[in-house]
Amino acid sequence: MGETCRRAAAEGIVLLTNRNETLPLAESATIAVLGRVQRDYFMVGYGSGGDVRPPYTWNLIDALQATDLHVDEALAERYAAWCADHPVDPEPAWGTWPRSHPEMPLTADEVAAVAERASTAVVVIGRAAGEAREQALEEGGYYLTADERALLSHATAAFERTVVVVDTGNVVDLAWTQHYDLDAVLLAWQGGMESGRAVADVLTGAVPAGGKLTATIATAYDRYPSAGHFGGHDHNEYVEDVYVGYRWFETFAPEHVLFPFGYGLTYASFDVRAEEVDTRDGEVVVRARVTNTHGVHRGTEVVQAYVRAPQGALGRPARHLAAFGKTRELAPGESETLELRFRLDDLAAYDDTGATGHRSAYVLEAGRYEVLVGTDVRTAVPCGGADVAELRVVRQVTEAGAVAPGHAFERVVARTEGGEVRAARETVPEATVSRQDRVLGALPAPVERTGDRGVTLADVAAGDASLDEFVAQLDDDELEALSRGDFTMDSGLGPAGNAGALAGTVESLRAKGVPALTTTDGPAGIRLATHTALLPSGTALASTWNPELVTTLNALLAVEMAAKGSDILLSPGMNIQRDPLCGRNFEYFSEDPLLTGRMAAATVRGIQSEGLAACPKHFAANNQEDNREYNDSRVSERALREIYLRGFEICVAESAPRTLMTSYNKINGVWGHYHHDLVTTVLRGEWGFDGAVMTDWWMREAVDPDFPAVTNDAYRVRAQVDVHMPGAWGRDDRHGDGSLLASLAAADGVTLGELQRTAGNVLRLALSNPRLSPGR
Ligand code: BGC
Repeated sequence: MGETCRRAAAEGIVLLTNRNETLPLAESATIAVLGRVQRDYFMVGYGSGGDVRPPYTWNLIDALQATDLHVDEALAERYAAWCADHPVDPEPAWGTWPRSHPEMPLTADEVAAVAERASTAVVVIGRAAGEAREQALEEGGYYLTADERALLSHATAAFERTVVVVDTGNVVDLAWTQHYDLDAVLLAWQGGMESGRAVADVLTGAVPAGGKLTATIATAYDRYPSAGHFGGHDHNEYVEDVYVGYRWFETFAPEHVLFPFGYGLTYASFDVRAEEVDTRDGEVVVRARVTNTHGVHRGTEVVQAYVRAPQGALGRPARHLAAFGKTRELAPGESETLELRFRLDDLAAYDDTGATGHRSAYVLEAGRYEVLVGTDVRTAVPCGGADVAELRVVRQVTEAGAVAPGHAFERVVARTEGGEVRAARETVPEATVSRQDRVLGALPAPVERTGDRGVTLADVAAGDASLDEFVAQLDDDELEALSRGDFTMDSGLGPAGNAGALAGTVESLRAKGVPALTTTDGPAGIRLATHTALLPSGTALASTWNPELVTTLNALLAVEMAAKGSDILLSPGMNIQRDPLCGRNFEYFSEDPLLTGRMAAATVRGIQSEGLAACPKHFAANNQEDNREYNDSRVSERALREIYLRGFEICVAESAPRTLMTSYNKINGVWGHYHHDLVTTVLRGEWGFDGAVMTDWWMREAVDPDFPAVTNDAYRVRAQVDVHMPGAWGRDDRHGDGSLLASLAAADGVTLGELQRTAGNVLRLALSNPRLSPGR
């Protein structure tokens, strides 16, 4: 596991600058490591997604000292002493974690004295954010501190060469990389317990640099299209619509990009040639030959295929990532041909206004779909394409999750005038469907109750009884118990430190063979009282652009889950990195939904390889931490479907996760855990998801606006959000609020069929568990 963590962390490191081949460092290089983060390294971000007890961690200075490089020991000792005298708080209160640590001040003369002994300065800058802790637009947050600026000035003035390592979970300001005289810059992300060794591997070239950015780095924060529409206390209007990240910059503002999406240097140099772009039966196949033209260095390259769709009536971003592939490590002179495949249908736009004449449909408007191939979004060059003769409706669906009446806002839309594409505004359409009719039109029929017939879940697993026969035996209390967890985190039904248990939460269910299933956080490892591996952060993993490696890593984690008693890992975190300040971006993969979906699917495949369950989260549009339990994400249905839901859709289609977690926030006025449109209509209805859906931890009370007798847990079950986790309404409570069964008893309340349907969803999950399906 350690070696795979190390490899993955190293592959995810992005080389932003490398003047005169400063990196990899020669074995004989004498280096001085500056910055206290060399010791107090940020291995991961904060909160549930990073709170793992690793068996060990490698900081940077220890890792460098273990290489053949000549590390300036006097300076290292000085940092060791200073850090010991200025320790970081080992356990800050939840949500108050430091975004950076105060730096050891060094004068210009002191730095110059060190430069007498070493030729290369390695300056380490560290940042972290997390759950309930956004990154902030302040010094020590998004920006450098005065001490860090001084360190960079002194180092660049005194040393022959200066290399900077940025250890961070979020994209932070990097405009300064252009102002100082830097020779190399590594964006190292947070690499988990092997962070230090991974950075050392890339610095020495043991692993050649090859990571690629999964989000655009802009010249300044306020150039991001979400800036000004992020951080709202009550709600945020997603005015940029589908123009998130590179979709915005490449279409409307290319001059505001510092490092483009998909970018990252290698130690080698590659010739990438698209040999063939072929369209057959709606599938586009790109064959690209990649040759390492460097005389000395080995390396990997990531080939990316983008599509430029015709603007049509809807307007489209100038680029959509359509497929990618990564070479093996190629020696100088060696070549590899990659084959990238994608379906044009998967790039269809969603018409939420009816502008194409096909409202609530995914459409390919007529015109040329140009294919661009390259090694980042900016330098990809046209090399073929496909023509769509006339508009094609790819999928007709129904309106779902649209902006609530009265909440319309102006969104960005691309308009073409005189051949120029420019950003215009249009009013977002509001919801028009009656949810009441939708719910009442699809109420499930109840299974006729039989009372206890002695059928066990093992009988169902063995094929000796049907799931319906099992469900028919369950009384109200058993149905209620299946729809919530065991009330608390650290449930007595699982190993110490678990996040809660579900399914067999009461004795009568266990007597019928329903196991209690233990949930644990994710995604950076298995959050338990015991030691478990600390993985590289989600962004680091995605920056590898290597889904196979992500699957391998998570398959090893699954073995650890089985050994430690976790049945459900609350992973992957897969919200879109809409804004660089979102505290949990480190857990997430990318600003792009395809990359997000592919990485999430790779994670799920690994976790589920042992028969256990993954739990992609947070469904959906959980893009900020401030006031996250009440905040309303107001976003057009088009942007929801093309950006914020799309990653989940890919993940469900490619990896069939057994569970899924809703989000804390509201989506267009409805809390994630009550969202019938998103969970029943889209997730289950359109995408065919048949696993169990759980809430994020603890819910908000509400009366169903369409059905006054349906409140709280009944409102949730009506949406098919099956399990309330951990189950109680207050953090210290150990009981429910009775809302589910009270509604069942009411004339216009939730129905027996709905309770049984939710029970079925949970029991299917239990049936997939290795205790009932060994050898699966
Ligand atoms: C987080 C989830 C996490 C859960 C359980 C919540 O606060 O949002 O991602 O899985 O806690 O720890």
